[in-house]
Amino acid sequence: MDISMKRLVINTLEKKAKIHREIYGHFAEHLGRCIYEGLFVGEDNTMIPHTNGMRNDVVAALRDLRVPVLRWPGGCFADEYHWKDGIGPKQQRKKMINTHWGGVLEDNSFGTHEFLELCRQIGCRPYINGNVGSGTVQEMSEWVEYLTFDGTSPMTQLRASNGQEQPWDVPFFGVGNESWGCGGNLRPQAYADLYRRYATYCRNYGDKTLYKIACGPNANDYAWTQELLKALPAPDSGLVNGISLHYYTTPGSFAQKKPALGFDRAAYHETIAKAWYMDTLIQRHSDIMNQYDPDRRLGLIVDEWGCWYEVEPGTNPGFLYQQNTMRDAIVAAVTLNIFNQHADRVRMANLAQMVNVPQSVLLTEGPRMVKTPTYHVFLQYKEHMDGQLLGSYLENSTIGEGEYLYPQLSHSASLDAEGRIHLSLVNASPDCTETIQLLPVAFSPAGVSATVVTGAIDAHNTFETPDRVRVESFDDVQRAGDGTLTITLPPCSVVFLTLSE
Ligand code: AHR
Repeated sequence: MDISMKRLVINTLEKKAKIHREIYGHFAEHLGRCIYEGLFVGEDNTMIPHTNGMRNDVVAALRDLRVPVLRWPGGCFADEYHWKDGIGPKQQRKKMINTHWGGVLEDNSFGTHEFLELCRQIGCRPYINGNVGSGTVQEMSEWVEYLTFDGTSPMTQLRASNGQEQPWDVPFFGVGNESWGCGGNLRPQAYADLYRRYATYCRNYGDKTLYKIACGPNANDYAWTQELLKALPAPDSGLVNGISLHYYTTPGSFAQKKPALGFDRAAYHETIAKAWYMDTLIQRHSDIMNQYDPDRRLGLIVDEWGCWYEVEPGTNPGFLYQQNTMRDAIVAAVTLNIFNQHADRVRMANLAQMVNVPQSVLLTEGPRMVKTPTYHVFLQYKEHMDGQLLGSYLENSTIGEGEYLYPQLSHSASLDAEGRIHLSLVNASPDCTETIQLLPVAFSPAGVSATVVTGAIDAHNTFETPDRVRVESFDDVQRAGDGTLTITLPPCSVVFLTLSE
């Protein structure tokens, strides 16, 4: 045996948890060119092909990802958003200043109806985040009524007068965002008390049961999780279904971020090591959740995650526009494997954010659109959605530089409804090829198909060269007569295999 060969055992007899499709969710905020330009170009636009104002190219690309859920309207924006300003005739909609993101004028031309039309076109489920920071209980309660009540009431009459007779399906509802920071700078006890009031009046109408999400911790703020869970309603109360977790992978620091392009090896290792920190965060917050919720009724909802770098030179610092390289693809692939491996607790996750902002899957410039390396990882991994996480064990090595050390390989395996194994493998080493010997238990692979996303650590797509990094077919897989497979992973690569009997 090749001495550098690593063994990977996948046990099809050990089905661990369902990988909820919402783990592959996304997030779109009123931030920079994410909503306006990126997703929505206006119903009267004659330059960019659209349907009811939504860009056709962007919607088609998102449909290919089978986006399961989209979070909106923020983010920090959510806690200064007043939904009634974003309904009714567009000329009469109240304007506001988007104080968080560039101080630009928000004309509210994209509001509730437009968001739900976007979800309809993408084919995803909506996750709406309500305003606790500067909104009232009545305002939130009426939004839920406007969205989901199927009967005659002041809100449903208002909805009908705006062209929507039927209620929408809005399964997920967030009660405040980052209430420990931009959402009100609250302490956990105070927030938990507010949560109790707001959530009480987010009614379940008919058979429409809201999955209600409380504002959980910022990264490693374990005290917030502890205090919050102590003060929130019990997991079986029906008042709370999940708590959020926000964690951004930021080489450097929040105050002094590093660039998305033109980075060195050290910054690469720092970024991947920091991405791996997600595993520790989920483990430790789960340990606290287990004290209050041993039956795992509450979901951990990682509704903001991704790489956050310095903005591209010459762009508005408040718009957070950043490029995306193979480094981001590795971060996405490692992180999604971590979420899969914690599928017993992670019920949803939302990449921040969809278009033209931090770790986006798509970038646009006028009528042009480019798919980022991160997009291509989501394209590969979509086969994990709704699968059963399988028990597995992988031999590994540690790589990195200085204080930033991390596992060279990352993986997860799932079994789909047709009995196929889907296996995602990451080789984060920028230099070394790695060979894996795959030993499936109680499974004889007859059919194997595989794809790869690979390139130099800073390889990326531009509007001039949109296909430098993309999903390609992969054939470096050898089958032995005993049912084992040998897979040779290129440096800096994400390989996705589907095995059938
Ligand atoms: O995603 C950008 C911002 O990051 C969000 O608005 C906020 O919730 C977080 O701090």
